[in-house]
Amino acid sequence: MEIGLIAVFLCEGILIIFGFYLIWSWINQTPFYPSKTKPLNDLLKELNITGNINFIDIGSGDGRIVRWAAKQGFNADGIEFNPFLTLYSRSVITLKGLRNRAKIFNKDFRNHDFSKYDFAYLYIFPEHMDSVSNKLFSEMKKGSVVVTNTFKFTKLTPDRIFGKYYIYYVK
Ligand SMILES: C[S@@+](CC[C@H](N)C(=O)[O-])C[C@H]1O[C@@H](n2cnc3c(N)ncnc32)[C@H](O)[C@@H]1O
Repeated sequence: MEIGLIAVFLCEGILIIFGFYLIWSWINQTPFYPSKTKPLNDLLKELNITGNINFIDIGSGDGRIVRWAAKQGFNADGIEFNPFLTLYSRSVITLKGLRNRAKIFNKDFRNHDFSKYDFAYLYIFPEHMDSVSNKLFSEMKKGSVVVTNTFKFTKLTPDRIFGKYYIYYVK
């Protein structure tokens, strides 16, 4: 087969997968827009978070925050219900050799057990955050930290604000 033909098939395949992904996100009303990792480094210094940390990105998108957390030395989990983003995240984690520290669960985060986490991160619309807040704050350990990017939980007051991050301590 000619190289040109293979390229056309590949492009078509990518377009079809992307089309399915768009329809899926549209039906679930959960668009993917990624966080920047650089300001998170400043946040870590500010919060003085070090050591053997169990981290979770709730709604992990393409997995970049999970990979960032794994590179900090955290045990990093992500939960993502979009199968295309899950496949992509898992592939990059494997390619970058981070499988010993980073893991993606393909499920709805409202069905996840949060009891082992010290640090949770969310960057999603408030209505989606609110749908998990009771479960999250009752399951996470006392003293653990929940950070939201840009959006706040509508029924909770943040303990601290650092730039665009809202910081909540589990009491
Ligand atoms: C704005 S993106 C953020 C991605 C990533 N956390 C980041 O900061 O780069 C939100 C992600 O949450 C996912 N999401 C929304 N609701 C979800 C749910 N109930 N269960 C699992 N994933 C969900 C969406 O599919 C989307 O990929």
